[in-house]
Amino acid sequence: MSSMDKESLHRLLKRTVWCGELRDSYEGREVILTGWLNRKRNLGKLIFVDLRDRSGIAQIIFDPSMDPDLHEQAASLRNEDVISVRGKVKRRGEGNINPDMPTGEVEVLAGELQILNRSETLPFTVEDGARAGDELKLKYRYIDLRRPNLQNIIIQRHRIAKAVRDYLDAKGFVEIETPILTKSTPEGARDYIVPSRIHKGSFYAMPQSPQLFKQLLMIAGFEKYYQIAKCFRDEDLRADRQPEFTQIDIEMSFIEQQDIYELVEGLLGFAFESVGKKIETPFPRLTYKEAVDRFGSDRPDTRFGMEIIDLSDILDGCDYALVSNALSSGGVARCINLKGGAKYSRKKIDEISNEAINLGGRGILWMKKDGGSLNSPMLKHIGIERASSIASRAAIGDGDALLISADKADIVNRVLGSLRLKIAREESLIDENTWSVLWIHDFPLLQWNPDEKRWEACHHPFTSPNPDDLERIDVDPGSVRALAYDIVLNGQEIGGGSIRNHSVAIQEKIFRVLGLAPEELNTKFGFLLQALKSGAPPHGGIALGFDRLVAILTGCDSIRDVIAFPKTTSATCLMTGSPSRIDRKQLEELGLSVEESFLE
Ligand code: AMO
Repeated sequence: MSSMDKESLHRLLKRTVWCGELRDSYEGREVILTGWLNRKRNLGKLIFVDLRDRSGIAQIIFDPSMDPDLHEQAASLRNEDVISVRGKVKRRGEGNINPDMPTGEVEVLAGELQILNRSETLPFTVEDGARAGDELKLKYRYIDLRRPNLQNIIIQRHRIAKAVRDYLDAKGFVEIETPILTKSTPEGARDYIVPSRIHKGSFYAMPQSPQLFKQLLMIAGFEKYYQIAKCFRDEDLRADRQPEFTQIDIEMSFIEQQDIYELVEGLLGFAFESVGKKIETPFPRLTYKEAVDRFGSDRPDTRFGMEIIDLSDILDGCDYALVSNALSSGGVARCINLKGGAKYSRKKIDEISNEAINLGGRGILWMKKDGGSLNSPMLKHIGIERASSIASRAAIGDGDALLISADKADIVNRVLGSLRLKIAREESLIDENTWSVLWIHDFPLLQWNPDEKRWEACHHPFTSPNPDDLERIDVDPGSVRALAYDIVLNGQEIGGGSIRNHSVAIQEKIFRVLGLAPEELNTKFGFLLQALKSGAPPHGGIALGFDRLVAILTGCDSIRDVIAFPKTTSATCLMTGSPSRIDRKQLEELGLSVEESFLE
């Protein structure tokens, strides 16, 4: 055992104050600080050490004239060594005060040093903005997590989770854990599957959400459930998606949609306050149709205008093939008004048009007002009267440009919705200091899957149809609205939920429309149907994407930044090297065989 190892086993000099809390009120007092060596400077005879713990940084001085041995020990210290220091707090001299540091008015004159552990030279320095690639940072995530910014975000995440728990507890909710080794819960993604050793050839699925269990808890009579729950989805990853993520999952009995709205508005208000932010409640509500028609998206960002304007009636019957073909085959013609867009060059308009084609549209038509007169390649086909009507409906001002798309309604909305957002970002039209929170409701219950030629649930199959539309479910399933709602924050879906089918007859009907054969239905959801027959109360709920909420509240672009140990976009953990292959013995135990090329 080296002398240093022995030393680290000595009685620990225990912290008496956090580094970040030192202020001039401590002047003259003896303190013990503990942490990591952030930086060391050797200035003449004095050694200055910045010591970092999770609260901040404090400056320590080693003076050879006071204790030469101690000074020599300090000289051996390197970045990220772990130390404990006893010393006396003193005010810094006038010229040495550092106004950029909260502890910058004081320093600690060291009297005793315990070197608790040494650190090797690390692959990158512990500082915000350290120059290292993302992969390296993820491989050594425990080092990156030492960064004050990242630590602060993880601590804020904890605060928000605590606020959520406190709020729901005060409202009579019970936090109940639900299984991780379970059966498929359909939320539209692929399952992560776990093979069973005892039942060879059988598999557990990891939950895409606790959906079925929370409904069963309502049937069991808990009435108000919540859980900060881990969910697992094997789907394509993006900045706002991780394969394992966290939901604030909620379910209530004997309620209607309005009760969920009020609960979540109160909850989010409280969560915002926990990190010193404020949102206005109640949140505005838009129907799905209104959201898509006005903003081209069911998760609109309403922090800026540039709404979609319908021109179909004005252009109906016009003699311009690009438009008339679309309208005569049941499509629409719509536009957005790009304020100041008349300055856009031909090249820029072409780029926008190509973008529209990439989004599945036929390109973009344009109309400008410049020097008081309208200008557009459409003009000679549609005539000045129609052009003037368009200009007046779209409130085109001098210097503005309209971007017009004519096609099937869903394509036009997708194209204009995406362009609206892209241009707003490019032109800095989004006020980053405001919050746009919305409820979107009246979603369709079902959507047609053309590849599999069947209807599928827009939310999930346990969602109740709107009772006013129920009679159309066999004749026109696509027109049935659901009692489902999403919550959208700054253009991101941060939650979704619904009122559920507590009537077994309606639940069975939905499964039939979704094309589940009786046998499949029985193996997949027999237990749910049985439970619905045993006194199921009316119930409903919601799940909020906790990572997305924390990312927005802490100003992070990606949810990866708010998760302590996130996965890469290809669902790997670079630190532990998972997923990884397993050996033959383990495979045999599980009754599995894997293609030879995948074996170690
Ligand atoms: P849904 O599937 O809409 O509903 O999920 C709810 C919220 O979870 C977040 N979310 C994700 N966050 C990060 N990574 C992912 N891969 C990911 N997938 C979803 C989103 C989303 O709004 N059981 C239902 C809820 C209910 O009906 O009560 C459900 O899971 O913010």
